[in-house]
Amino acid sequence: MNVLILGGTSEASALAAALAERGIPALFSYAGRVAIPKTQPLPTRVGGFGGVEGLTAFVADNRITHLVDATHPFAEQMSCHAIAAAQRSGIPCLALTRPPWQPQAGDRWQRVAGVEAAVEALSGPAERILLAIGRQQLAAFAAQPQHHYLLRLVDAPAVPPPLPHHRVILERGPFTLDGDLALLREHGIERVVCKNAGGAGAIAKLSAARRLGLPVVMIERPALPSRQEVHAVEAVLSWLCHTSAPDTERGV
Ligand SMILES: NC(=O)c1ccc[n+]([C@@H]2O[C@H](COP(=O)([O-])OP(=O)(O)OC[C@H]3O[C@@H](n4cnc5c(N)ncnc54)[C@H](OP(=O)(O)O)[C@@H]3O)[C@@H](O)[C@H]2O)c1
Repeated sequence: MNVLILGGTSEASALAAALAERGIPALFSYAGRVAIPKTQPLPTRVGGFGGVEGLTAFVADNRITHLVDATHPFAEQMSCHAIAAAQRSGIPCLALTRPPWQPQAGDRWQRVAGVEAAVEALSGPAERILLAIGRQQLAAFAAQPQHHYLLRLVDAPAVPPPLPHHRVILERGPFTLDGDLALLREHGIERVVCKNAGGAGAIAKLSAARRLGLPVVMIERPALPSRQEVHAVEAVLSWLCHTSAPDTERGV
């Protein structure tokens, strides 16, 4: 067995720890988006594979037998490539994801289908907005330049985002309710815009928004081709025990 974990999430790190603890051979892969990624207890590579073809070649070159896609639910391209490359390689592929957040009593969510729809949802007068969507799609919000955007990022952007009124704070989760309440109050935030990432690490902003009665523009997850998906590391371990690569099944 040789497992390839596509990482960049706390779930991927938890899986890496579990495989390392059990001595299950595995490689960990980062896209290379953050300057100092979390160190993993597994051999780690960084950077894109070069599309479906590159990933298929990587699987063959490294004799990967099982692919676990533990990327972020919004890493749509990588997840599509993982499904396609696993099919081409004839190896099993499993997604380890977090269930999406669900609104609770007191929430004022406006659910939108993507970043473009989130931008459209901000077409009103100027507000102070916590824009918690990471770094990559900030430029889209230049279409609503009237707002003041508070950006919470892991690394400082290499080029300042094209938003006339913004402030960057550098912070890496997990975040706390007290911390996020203080943040929203201190910056006079009137609306939160975020992705439905799910999980515990970034949920505090939603609890804080509920507490303060603030509206939230919730960007829902992209639709992916059908795939096998689990939400717990134990479920991946069980899948690894019960799923063999086709060559192994044939006794090759
Ligand atoms: N999107 C988010 O909101 C978000 C939030 C938190 C963390 N992340 C993490 O950040 C990373 C990049 O996310 P993204 O949204 O930019 O991905 P994406 O748009 O789906 O992927 C773009 C390209 O980045 C490369 N890539 C992505 N994840 C990779 C991985 N784990 N190992 C090697 N290459 C990878 C692949 O390049 P090639 O085609 O060259 O193979 C992929 O085609 C992911 O690992 C994800 O888990 C994303």
